[in-house]
Amino acid sequence: MKSKLIAPSILAADFGNLQRDVEMINKSEADWFHIDIMDGVFVPNISFGMPVLEAITSHARKTIDVHLMIVDPDRYIKTFKALGADNLTVHYEACTHLHRSLQAIRAEGMKAGVALNPHTPVELLEDTIKEIDLVCLMSVNPGFGGQKFIEHTYNKVRRLRDMIQRNGASTLIEIDGGVTSTNAPALIAAGADVLVAGSFVFKATDPLETIKELKNIANT
Ligand code: DX5
Ligand code: ZN
Repeated sequence: MKSKLIAPSILAADFGNLQRDVEMINKSEADWFHIDIMDGVFVPNISFGMPVLEAITSHARKTIDVHLMIVDPDRYIKTFKALGADNLTVHYEACTHLHRSLQAIRAEGMKAGVALNPHTPVELLEDTIKEIDLVCLMSVNPGFGGQKFIEHTYNKVRRLRDMIQRNGASTLIEIDGGVTSTNAPALIAAGADVLVAGSFVFKATDPLETIKELKNIANT
């Protein structure tokens, strides 16, 4: 079986020591950098924007996975490409013309992702699944790190895995929010491909060791 991926979320990093934390991920066993952009409109929080993303990508040496929690994301697709995004994920709930947004992301040479809030059924992706490289299932309500994992997520992973198989799609399933080494094995067993982890990695006494622990789970 293909090894599953670990994506530490920079939202939980120490922004006063951003380069240090980026270098820590570079030398860790993590696969991707997960980067949360929030606009204070789509979600009740503002994280950081383009200049900080540029600072991150100038040091990062792994896949840049950008999760946009912003309204009308089409405005910035070209900008995020120019800033170094490899994957660009938009929220289903923020896109009036999701199919068009996905095409625009792929046209820029990026992998196209769709994130679903906890209340949004995976079935709403039945007609676009072949256009989607990555589905990000939110396992907390987006906007903040450090929240409690929503258990219903397992059910959504299984339904999404079934949809991907039925459609012959190669979409990856990413889980975002409250991921720890406790729920990681069951998430992978349910069909997850990518685990995002913010607080669990950065609040650990030994983040490198914590990433290794997650990667070992991902490899089993
Ligand atoms: C929440 C963000 C997550 C967040 C996860 O809106 O999308 O990526 O950083 O943080 P933890 O792992 O602390 O729940
Ligand atoms: Zn995220």
